[in-house]
Amino acid sequence: MEFYLKVCFTVLCLFQWNYAIDTQYMYESCNSNYVLETSLQLETSKSLTYPFQMNCTYTITVPSAKTILVVISRFEVEEKVTGICTDYLNIYDGGDNKASLLNTSPLCGSSVTGNFTSTGSSLTFDFKSDETAVYRGFGLLVTAIENAPCTSAQFSCNNGLCIDTSLKCDGYNQCGDSSDEINCQENAASSTAGIDNTPLIIGVIVGLVVVGGLIGAIILHVYKKNQWKKFLHQHLEDPDVWNPSPSYPVTRKYYRNGNYNTLNIDVDNVPHIHQYESMDASADSVR
Ligand SMILES: *[C@@H]1O[C@H](CO)[C@@H](O)[C@H](O)[C@H]1NC(C)=O
Ligand SMILES: *[C@@H]1O[C@H](CO)[C@@H](O)[C@H](O)[C@H]1NC(C)=O
Repeated sequence: MEFYLKVCFTVLCLFQWNYAIDTQYMYESCNSNYVLETSLQLETSKSLTYPFQMNCTYTITVPSAKTILVVISRFEVEEKVTGICTDYLNIYDGGDNKASLLNTSPLCGSSVTGNFTSTGSSLTFDFKSDETAVYRGFGLLVTAIENAPCTSAQFSCNNGLCIDTSLKCDGYNQCGDSSDEINCQENAASSTAGIDNTPLIIGVIVGLVVVGGLIGAIILHVYKKNQWKKFLHQHLEDPDVWNPSPSYPVTRKYYRNGNYNTLNIDVDNVPHIHQYESMDASADSVR
């Protein structure tokens, strides 16, 4: 039972881990704007590898008091060819690609890590790809942040940043230093222990009782049916209890397959009939 619950919880955890925050795709939302409240995952495209000849910008804006933290969670873009990035990402510190660049040189290859922080409330991503090579692309965690002191609706990261409390323990490193994803295992364990499985146990017991009762009823029914058959069989075989005057007409045809083919159907000469009558008479006299 405990193992079963653990499996359930793990599946739930994975589900939550995959779908807790919004995911946007640069190729599918090419040249668009997005107003961000808490956090989103920005990916190159929905397909396994990003398409050729991409030329897309994507602008993210947060509420004016906030700034934007970009944490690179995955980066797999075509390597430099003769020292130049042919596929590349640029991050502009403003609402379009005329703002100043946050990255010192175009981002490409597979060794890009770290994070970027906007000075204002918007950022613009610009991604271009050429007509060669097949790569998965990037995954960026984009989060609305504020500097400490944090409000009661915010989680206080160890690095002094404030993020929405809903982002704590969601499986994504929105703080940039992973402080929102530590001390989460204890929470998971205590919530597993806190699951009340009494309704489940009661349900199982009720189910067993119902199934048991049903099987019992079927067995009783079959048993009764067989008893009745035995009784009928006995009636036909035992002349002692044979009713000599049944309600249906007694013919030779009726007994064709029975034991009474040769029986004389002279009702008056059957001895038992008198016995029954005398019993009835004595019963009457007692009353
Ligand atoms: C990308 O698109 C812009 C217009 O949206 C255009 O001005 C620019 O030349 C394009 N760049 C490439 C490399 O195609
Ligand atoms: C950005 O990443 C560096 C490591 O690359 C880390 O030391 C730093 O704390 C991060 N900054 C923020 C604001 O999370």
